[in-house]
Amino acid sequence: FAVRAAGYDEELIKTARTIASPGRGILAIDESNATCGKRLASIGLENNEVNRQAYRQLLCTTPGLGEYISGAIMFEETLYQSTSDGKKMVDCLVEGGIVPGIKVDKGLVPLAGSNEESWCQGLDGLASRTAAYYKQGARFAKWRTVVSIPNGPSDLAVTEAAWGLARYAAICQDTGLVPIVEPEVLLDGSHGIDRTLEVAEKVWSKVFYYLGENNVLLEGILLKPSMVTPGAECPERATPEQVAEYTLKMLRRRVPPAVPGIMFLSGGQSEVEATLNLNAMNQSPNPWHVSFSYARALQNSVLKTWKGQPENLEAAKKALLVRAKANSLAQLGKYSA
Ligand code: 13P
Repeated sequence: FAVRAAGYDEELIKTARTIASPGRGILAIDESNATCGKRLASIGLENNEVNRQAYRQLLCTTPGLGEYISGAIMFEETLYQSTSDGKKMVDCLVEGGIVPGIKVDKGLVPLAGSNEESWCQGLDGLASRTAAYYKQGARFAKWRTVVSIPNGPSDLAVTEAAWGLARYAAICQDTGLVPIVEPEVLLDGSHGIDRTLEVAEKVWSKVFYYLGENNVLLEGILLKPSMVTPGAECPERATPEQVAEYTLKMLRRRVPPAVPGIMFLSGGQSEVEATLNLNAMNQSPNPWHVSFSYARALQNSVLKTWKGQPENLEAAKKALLVRAKANSLAQLGKYSA
């Protein structure tokens, strides 16, 4: 007998494949209002709804973006927001050939009983929220939880992260949204790359165990892993080739080929670093579509170019296309700096 309702299966598989299509990746613009405020503050803008709208409008209405970007993850405010001339942001994306997505977790809070680690909230009431997001036009979702290497990670924190992701994934699939499964292994720390590999393997092993326990359809999910790199404060740095070797080793050991797409986060890497690392991973064929779901590594130069000035709008859109195209080439393994 069926252990899960197959209602949306065909659509989930189709959505996931569309997002994981050759030469394309995800633009993450789902910063919470607080985080978006930090980005706006970096160019001297106040954190209010009008400024957030102006910034998201710039990103969602860049002509030609859909050639390189297959999906955009929004924060709830943007999903229900319109441009200054009254067009829904969702419609701008769809017309540009970009699948609208929505961040559905409610953020991180301290995990009692752990080594000052955190857990991710948002499961209560999630099914009714995801059903409403689907109605509003979203077709995929994101849930980001984190694991800290310097703070452990404790078994408790890893188990909680994996279980939460699996419950979220099952609920999304039940309501027609492709879940992006994102246990971010934070870059912070002075540990070497071997320690990152060890932790990432442990995390993904638990995540797939619980995805199975929750009857999640693997063909209808996307992953958003951190690349396997040395800790940010580790004196020994790794080349893109080393990052690719370690990251692919981890993925081959832990991720079934049924998963259609691996969409990496940039996690504080520079724009060029994130592109070079992705390009290195695509120098030989992989069982999955190996691509990007970058926020900072797609937005840093856009923000610096825009500075909140209407006269810089066109130049800022061009800056977005430059990064999007570079990462598109990296997805195909054809980027050169
Ligand atoms: P970064 O690429 O800036 O790490 O952000 C991606 C993201 O959405 C993290 O959840």
